[in-house]
Amino acid sequence: MRKIGIGIIGCGNISDAYLTASPGFPVLDIISVADINPSAADAKAAAFGLSAVPLAALLADPRIEIILNLTTPQNHVQVGLQAVAHGKHVYSEKPLATTLTDAERLVSAAREKNVRVGCAPDTFLGGSHQTARRLIDDGVIGAVVAGSAFMQVPGHELWHPNPDFYYKPGSGPLMDMGPYYLTCLVNLLGPVKSVVGQAKSAYDSRTIGSGAREGQRIEVEVATHVSGLLEFESGAAISLTTSFDVWKHDHNHIELYGTTGSMIVPDPNRFEGEVKTAHRKEDWTVAQQIHPYGDGNYRILGLADMAEAIVSNRQHRANQDISLHVLEIMESILHSASAGRRIELTYSCARPEPMRTDLPFGILE
Ligand SMILES: NC(=O)c1ccc[n+]([C@@H]2O[C@H](COP(=O)([O-])OP(=O)(O)OC[C@H]3O[C@@H](n4cnc5c(N)ncnc54)[C@H](O)[C@@H]3O)[C@@H](O)[C@H]2O)c1
Repeated sequence: MRKIGIGIIGCGNISDAYLTASPGFPVLDIISVADINPSAADAKAAAFGLSAVPLAALLADPRIEIILNLTTPQNHVQVGLQAVAHGKHVYSEKPLATTLTDAERLVSAAREKNVRVGCAPDTFLGGSHQTARRLIDDGVIGAVVAGSAFMQVPGHELWHPNPDFYYKPGSGPLMDMGPYYLTCLVNLLGPVKSVVGQAKSAYDSRTIGSGAREGQRIEVEVATHVSGLLEFESGAAISLTTSFDVWKHDHNHIELYGTTGSMIVPDPNRFEGEVKTAHRKEDWTVAQQIHPYGDGNYRILGLADMAEAIVSNRQHRANQDISLHVLEIMESILHSASAGRRIELTYSCARPEPMRTDLPFGILE
């Protein structure tokens, strides 16, 4: 198989997960890493046996076809536009951008240059979420009528050493964690038609809980408890709550209620987890998983799928259509909360193709 050269921009927290998983996917050839902070790039290069280079050198390297953009959300578009200007495809960590307008700029620049845009999350390609997709498509719980989704935690400052960006415009619990839940739901149920939102914050500032800056206060500039009512084009009505204001709760991540049964979908921020279904009033049963990538952290699957899609000239699954749609859903929930009215969406998308079950590990096509 032809390998695709990858250059990584952004060598912080999440880059470890990508670099650890990358050897499992033969299509990926990680050429070099760069960071606005050169010592972060040097440290990552040393840890993974790679070369750290200045940003400009990475962008100019003709061996690199895809820029993997692992910078903070507020830098996703600026870095993405640089990649596109150099004729590179770009695969970004989520969210695609902090505003829909910025995402549209990136997508239209990429279209003009005839390069691809891909975006995390890719957890929906994991074994458990593909199992849920198969069961929904097979009609195991009938037509999905309603459901709920909950992402509620006390706040990432408890563990992240540089958590400032989570509390700046363009982040917060919805923009940060919503992409996992919404991408998972759109993969299962198809696109959303309209939303109603509500948003508030419990605290004006937060305290960093670990690392060199432990004890420092950071200002909260976003809503930290956001709820949305989602009307899907299929007719399903799903309520979603994302919060950094909740110390403890007992809800499942996602529950779906169909005409003939119910389903519990595991954490959409992970690749593994049990999918449970119940037929009518019978007890829960754990579904058999036949899809791969359901037993670990494969946070690079979307990039590998995009690289293989370039080789075989097909649409990649974690693509710009689903990420634009998800970003519009999130922005519209926040807009609805401040405007006090229902928002109809303008973007829609097709459900990505299900993952195949008949291929060796690391090969997606
Ligand atoms: N930390 C996690 O567990 C996690 C999980 C999933 C997704 N993500 C996503 O991954 C992205 C990065 O998160 P993180 O936790 O690794 O952040 P981080 O702050 O730990 O790392 C970001 C890195 O990007 C660099 N950077 C910022 N702007 C840059 C620019 N313009 N050019 C070059 N380098 C630049 C920073 O110097 C830093 O080293 C975010 O979009 C986040 O939502 C994080």
